[in-house]
Amino acid sequence: MRRPRAAVAALAALAALACNPDDVVHRIDWFATMRHQRSIKPYARPIPPVPGTVPVTGVEPAMSLQTADRLVNPRTRTSESINRGRFVYETYCLVCHGQEGRGDGPISSAAGGPFFGVRSLVNDTIARRTDGYIYAVIVSGQVMGRGLMPIYGDKVRDTERWDLVNYVRTLQAAASPRGRR
Ligand code: HEC
Repeated sequence: MRRPRAAVAALAALAALACNPDDVVHRIDWFATMRHQRSIKPYARPIPPVPGTVPVTGVEPAMSLQTADRLVNPRTRTSESINRGRFVYETYCLVCHGQEGRGDGPISSAAGGPFFGVRSLVNDTIARRTDGYIYAVIVSGQVMGRGLMPIYGDKVRDTERWDLVNYVRTLQAAASPRGRR
């Protein structure tokens, strides 16, 4: 008869410590070891967001012919960036613009394919364009007055767009008389 009473008294004492049963349990050492561990706590944000992260409520700033030229390329032309850019180029761009960027990819009319109007990425005119211009055409050819070029802003994201710009620059360097070896 005494035992259940003692248990009830102990529980009542514990309950008095705090109303939340969780808090009560955590005051007992044996349970507390479960709580004090290297784990992500509810609502904790253990990893800072990646630089350039766009909040879910945010939108990409609208680009225009005027604003594109003022964009600053944040990716230095390291081999890592260029290699990444080459991968993206070969995935999305080569099919039209060609291995060396001359506008003669397999589906372009220059190579007998159906896609008309594909431009070279390695002539002097485009070589003199800003990084921001090339970036903006990748995001949306339409906005940049290059409506025949499909939109790639939804496929190529974040810093990969600049890696792609960097790779286009290496194609231009390779195509220029000085860069050709
Ligand atoms: C389906 C074919 C196609 C694909 C794929 C394609 N482009 Fe284009 N691109 C075009 C056409 C066509 C134009 C010319 C658009 C116009 O004049 O309206 C163009 C124009 C451009 C221009 C502007 C050239 C200038 O002289 O102003 C750039 C820069 C460019 N493309 C880069 C890229 C990159 C980088 C990719 C890969 C993400 C890509 N393109 C993928 C067809 C394509």
